[in-house]
Amino acid sequence: MKNDWIKKQLNAFAEEGLERSARVYPGIGGKIRIDGKEVLNFSSNDYLDLAHHPHVIDRSREALEKYGIGSTASRLVTGTLPLHEELEARIAKEKGYESALIFGSGYMANAGTIPVLAGKNDLIFADKLVHASMIDACRISGAKLVRFAHNDAAALENRLKQFPANGNRRLIITESVFSMDGDIAPLQKIAELAEKHGCMLMIDEAHSTGTFGPNGAGLIRELGIEKQVTVSMGTMSKAMAGYGGFVACSEKLRKLLVNSSRAFIYTTAPPPAVIGAALGALDVFEASPNLGNILQANAAYFRSMLHEAGLDTLESRSQIIPIVIGENEKAVAVSEKLRELGILAAAIRPPTVPAGSARLRISITLAHLVDDLERASKAIIDAVKLLI
Ligand SMILES: Cc1ncc(COP(=O)(O)O)c(C=O)c1O
Repeated sequence: MKNDWIKKQLNAFAEEGLERSARVYPGIGGKIRIDGKEVLNFSSNDYLDLAHHPHVIDRSREALEKYGIGSTASRLVTGTLPLHEELEARIAKEKGYESALIFGSGYMANAGTIPVLAGKNDLIFADKLVHASMIDACRISGAKLVRFAHNDAAALENRLKQFPANGNRRLIITESVFSMDGDIAPLQKIAELAEKHGCMLMIDEAHSTGTFGPNGAGLIRELGIEKQVTVSMGTMSKAMAGYGGFVACSEKLRKLLVNSSRAFIYTTAPPPAVIGAALGALDVFEASPNLGNILQANAAYFRSMLHEAGLDTLESRSQIIPIVIGENEKAVAVSEKLRELGILAAAIRPPTVPAGSARLRISITLAHLVDDLERASKAIIDAVKLLI
């Protein structure tokens, strides 16, 4: 029958322990109530606990009440509101760039930008572990994709020598804080290589926006390498606790994106309430510039407790802490055990992470107090020892 393939494909997922489904949760953030019980959620990217912040909600509500529900048109038709321009100016200033452009999501920011930077006959050099949205963007671009070993600047340089420009454009892409490993790219070295070899450089700061750098501006700003980084990409969906993505870049590149980025042009402008919330989150970053430091100190404490018990957290140096289990079924079993104890730590399996490296991915947020971190680390250590 013409639809038999669907069942076959689903069976294949099930046989490999890779079947997924979207469970329903009654709330969001680092702490939620399930059946009247408080549960610690270590799978939320609400790193700074802003999803329920009164100021963020107020700014979102004001925008909603002033403009209505949706933007009701694409940006180039009648969808651009003063709020969009205000947010773009604010992001540009915070990130240390001439200008910025908002997209419907972080995924769309990558999908809409990379194909403008590189096309057929061009070369894209990507870290082995870059996010799926960047890989999809490379595929859309039609450029030749060259991967280099994770966070290995020497491997990147070898690749650059191996694949010279030959009159075409070359783009290097990486993340600052990696989404599944929580480690940090050698950005300074990569920026130097980009400069030395005449390449463009785009860095995805999805997980370092709000959590690192002055006023949460990220690692590019902290290292002062804005000039060498062609595009600083970020998302409003993690530490900013809302939705939407953006790129910060030169004015000229912004103009080119406005004129040629399909993910910018052919979609409705992000809605007012979402933009209002993002402005509110930036206000909080500015008013409380220490939030990222507190988060990183808490994450370091959590890691130290796991290390003391002999658990491996790879090279994590951020609020994202992987605990590699290996087999898919075992990772799921540990995650389920923790769930019974009121701790949500989702098992992340291939293809999100490489085969054989299924893991718990712990996101520390400011909703987690020191007591919570101690309780959770003990539960994780016990569960891993019991089941692995
Ligand atoms: C590194 C990275 N880039 C991009 C994205 C996409 O962002 P968004 O969830 O806003 O679409 C994510 C999140 O899933 C991410 O982890």
